[in-house]
Amino acid sequence: MTVSASVREKPFGPDGDDDEPDLPGSSGKPDDPFDRDELPAPPGATRTLLLSLLSPLRRRVALAAVLLLLQQAVVQAGPLLVAYAIDRGVPAVRADDYGPLIAIGVGYLCCAAASGGLQYAFIIASARVNQDVLLDLRGRIFRHAQALSVDFHERYTSGRLISRSTTDVESLRELLSEGLQELLTVILSFVYISAMLLWLDLGLGAVAVASFVPLYLLIRLYQRRAGVMFRNRSTAIAAVIVKFAETMNGIRPVRAFRRERANDAEFGVLNHRHERTNGDAMLEMARYVVGSRLVANTAVATIVLWGAHRVADGGLALGVLAAAVLYLRRLYDPIDRLGMFLNSYQSAAASLEKVAGLLAQTPTVPEPDASAARPLPALESDHPGREVRFEGVRFAYRTGGEVLPRFDLTLPAGQTVAVVGSTGAGKSTLAKLLARFYDPTEGGVLLDGVDLRTLALAELRRGVVMVTQEAFLFSGTVAENIAIGRPGASREEIERAAEAIGAHDFIMQLPDGYDTDVRKRGGRISAGQRQLVAFARALLADPAVLILDEATSSLDIPGERAVQRAMHTVLRGRTAVVIAHRLSTVEIADRVLVMEHGRIVEDGSPDELIAGTGAFADLHRAWRDSVVS
Ligand SMILES: Nc1ncnc2c1ncn2[C@@H]1O[C@H](COP(=O)(O)OP(=O)(O)O)[C@@H](O)[C@H]1O
Ligand SMILES: [Mg+2]
Repeated sequence: MTVSASVREKPFGPDGDDDEPDLPGSSGKPDDPFDRDELPAPPGATRTLLLSLLSPLRRRVALAAVLLLLQQAVVQAGPLLVAYAIDRGVPAVRADDYGPLIAIGVGYLCCAAASGGLQYAFIIASARVNQDVLLDLRGRIFRHAQALSVDFHERYTSGRLISRSTTDVESLRELLSEGLQELLTVILSFVYISAMLLWLDLGLGAVAVASFVPLYLLIRLYQRRAGVMFRNRSTAIAAVIVKFAETMNGIRPVRAFRRERANDAEFGVLNHRHERTNGDAMLEMARYVVGSRLVANTAVATIVLWGAHRVADGGLALGVLAAAVLYLRRLYDPIDRLGMFLNSYQSAAASLEKVAGLLAQTPTVPEPDASAARPLPALESDHPGREVRFEGVRFAYRTGGEVLPRFDLTLPAGQTVAVVGSTGAGKSTLAKLLARFYDPTEGGVLLDGVDLRTLALAELRRGVVMVTQEAFLFSGTVAENIAIGRPGASREEIERAAEAIGAHDFIMQLPDGYDTDVRKRGGRISAGQRQLVAFARALLADPAVLILDEATSSLDIPGERAVQRAMHTVLRGRTAVVIAHRLSTVEIADRVLVMEHGRIVEDGSPDELIAGTGAFADLHRAWRDSVVS
């Protein structure tokens, strides 16, 4: 066992701040992402989690425990047999009786064989427990994180979620697969051996047991000091990883702004800091190893000296002394590693606590109980839209001031509404409230008179679909990505949706058409093309309310024109909220809302507003001039 093995690296560190990849190196404060709000686990949550993970497996856990107990009992019979061999077997041989020695030899072999067999059975039993626990835990983290609301994900970055399901699950794996077994073995052998020594000879046993006191104190001291070191080290490695990931994520702006040198320097500082903390941890480990060996060797020396003296006096059998020394070796051998097992135990406990904190989070946008959930009224077949009403809505993000001060708005079923306004006016917030990514702080958003909060999420997802600027494609083929809109859609329906939106032509030009893998070909699918795919997906979903949040911003003007023409058919009868960054989009709208500071400052038909004297008329005039000139 080497010292360095106890300071293994974690594959990932907790990642604090990856939401701004555009600003490489701008944080410059490697400490803060990690000290920030790790979710505290409610008291008892860690134990509850552990119990809930283990209780379905309690039979196997019990089996593994029994196997380990038996195995230890068999293993610890070895030195005792040596004592018998010396004290009974040898004198018998002198009297020409080989029987006892042979019996002892056979016994020894049997013990060795039984111990091997038991160990094998234990490893298999415990490995199955480990696998099931880790499988269950990772599944729970994924399901739970996926079910949590958008505002949770805005606070708890994806990097940290990844580290929950990798680093933390991994540290539990380490504990379960090695640490726990070794720790139990050490504890069991302490108990067995102490009992054995005391039984063999009270005096020698007492010396051995007395040595536990300084050992215990040493371990406690090491634990306390190493705990700090290890925490520093994990913070330091996390900073290295975050810096690395942030730089590579933002490699384009890094190049564009020539940040390489500055980044090198910053990375160097973090890298060195990590190495220093690593060195500190190793030094602490070395101190512990030296200290514990000193105690162990002192105890062995005492027992050998005192024991030999008593053997010479005839007060102690030679075999007993031999057995005692063998036992002591076994006792102290794993001491070096004990500190390390305790570390793996501690780090697993810390990880489990973090995971428990995550799993204790409840969605802030909860799905209504089955009993409380209300269905939407049936749609008239020729009228796919639904009425949308914002009633006395006020809204503030958790991390900021009020975005919508007090908001009332009714969109009749089937209306196409364009929302314009300067950046930060609250347009996207309006859209996200309508898609129920968040719930209003006050008031309610109603769909055909049903508050979104009482609508089953599945029904809401069918009723309201939002297409945003960042059209996200999942790994899979183009066809699969469109089919997300309506799982089970036929290839024909998929192609029809793509055609309606004008995506068919570019898709056919991809190497495998609709079967092109978007991840492998990701580089060939431009932002505008991704938006078209996202559009087709939304079209296929055929929602009552369609929200487009700057969904055409990556298209060129002809592309946008084509989409707009398609929109005329696509949006007919549907209720649509079109957040537009180009005023040309407004032309397809029945109604235009101008938003400023979370309020609607103008509301009317495009023609009315253009003819009027308000902000929109000014904007429109300016835009006209820019297009014409
Ligand atoms: N997730 C968020 N957390 C905190 N504040 C936010 C969040 N998203 C938007 N905001 C704030 O809410 C205001 C309105 O933003 P948004 O609705 O995105 O405006 P728009 O889409 O009109 O540009 C802005 O001041 C913005 O800083
Ligand atoms: Mg926006």
